[in-house]
Amino acid sequence: MSLSNAAVRDIETVLHPYTNLDTFRKSGPTIIERGEGIYVWDSEGNKYIEGMAGLWCTSLGYSEKELIEAAHQQFQQLPFSHVFSGKSHEQASSVAEKLKAISPHPTSKVLFCGSGSEANDQQVKLVWYYNNALGRPKKKKFISRLRGYHGVTVASASLTGLPANHTDFDLPIAGVRHTDCPHYYRYAHEGETEDEFTTRLADNLEKMIIEEDPDTVAAFIAEPIMGAGGVVIPPEGYFQKIQKVLKKYDIYFIADEVICGFGRTGNMFGSETFGIKPDSISVAKALSSAYMPIGAVTIGEDMYQAMLDESRKIGTFGHGFTYTAHPVAAAVAAKTLEIYEKRNIIGHVRAIAPKFESRVARLADHPLVGHARAKGLIGAVELIADKGSKRAFDPKAAVGPTTQKLGEKNGVILRAAGGDIIAFCPPLIITEEQIDDMFDRVERTLDQAEAWVTKENLRKS
Ligand SMILES: Cc1ncc(COP(=O)(O)O)c(C=O)c1O
Repeated sequence: MSLSNAAVRDIETVLHPYTNLDTFRKSGPTIIERGEGIYVWDSEGNKYIEGMAGLWCTSLGYSEKELIEAAHQQFQQLPFSHVFSGKSHEQASSVAEKLKAISPHPTSKVLFCGSGSEANDQQVKLVWYYNNALGRPKKKKFISRLRGYHGVTVASASLTGLPANHTDFDLPIAGVRHTDCPHYYRYAHEGETEDEFTTRLADNLEKMIIEEDPDTVAAFIAEPIMGAGGVVIPPEGYFQKIQKVLKKYDIYFIADEVICGFGRTGNMFGSETFGIKPDSISVAKALSSAYMPIGAVTIGEDMYQAMLDESRKIGTFGHGFTYTAHPVAAAVAAKTLEIYEKRNIIGHVRAIAPKFESRVARLADHPLVGHARAKGLIGAVELIADKGSKRAFDPKAAVGPTTQKLGEKNGVILRAAGGDIIAFCPPLIITEEQIDDMFDRVERTLDQAEAWVTKENLRKS
């Protein structure tokens, strides 16, 4: 296959995340040129349904005029200003006020940053800072979960529970432990009920805390639905049992709402969908419909009071990015939150989620699919070699990545998350007709993938 000049230019200049850097030199990039609504077009003129809303993020689609106008206005008025050492701008308080009003826990202040990774990095620093302020210098460890995804900076990649984010990066850092992933389909013991499964996971968490010494365990972080780890939807009652354990040992609960936040699961936050009562949340992505890079963490009054004490002691809060509450990003985020409310985006998600969930459920009958799951407008199918034994394909066969590529040939962008799990996460503005169109393409794609698997004899064990 000969590569275009644009592809060669890209290969020789851009280092691509989450890409096999070697095979990429031959395959080259798909260059996306423009977007409108739920659709994007590549440089060859091919049109795709963006079935992943980019990276689980473009909630309002690709051509939202009000967001473009909000950015344009802010660029004209004040393209940059910072919030260090007593300076501020109106956009910072505007978006903070809106976030406080919808936060799923009593929120005192909002600390902005540029991404989900930075948000979780801030969480680690703030928990350490808080426990020092409270005179608990030993209480510093974090527990996250296998297959959880929390980002790629040194601390947030340590929280992430996926091997590719650790191997040869010398991660995780000390003081981070990973407990079980609540994926019943994959990890339940033979004959174990969902209730028994979640009890076992909560017991294991408690054992881990005791083994580490509860006085040293500071915080637990979890996505309400795991995204990059394969769209893992926890069984009913899981978070209730986990929270009981955390409460018993005075462990701070951070809900990573970077994917689930802002309507994805049918409520403003995934915490509401799963009965989670967090002490803090991390947000990014749909905070600005991904039109500008911005993230944030919410801070309760206790933590704020402790931070005030630290300022009295040290003289300053020694943290912040040049781009903390960047005014253009903040203006776009404030407008995004306004649109969610005035267009009742959550009402729309609730109205169309049954269609989405039923189209995902229908895929369970496909010979390639071991498990199909969905909640709100996020879902996945798990591709397996054998339905009865749930045997996975050899990862080298690349069944998931190949299915993802076949999807693109059928005009739908999907994502192979966690190997052979195909994820669905379209913009929240998708309509019922577009959901049907998307899943007609997915069904065609799975049929072609099945034909390829059979032809290549990839089911052999
Ligand atoms: C749940 C979750 N947390 C954190 C992150 C990291 O966000 P970012 O890529 O903006 O650093 C992601 C990104 O996919 C995510 O899904």
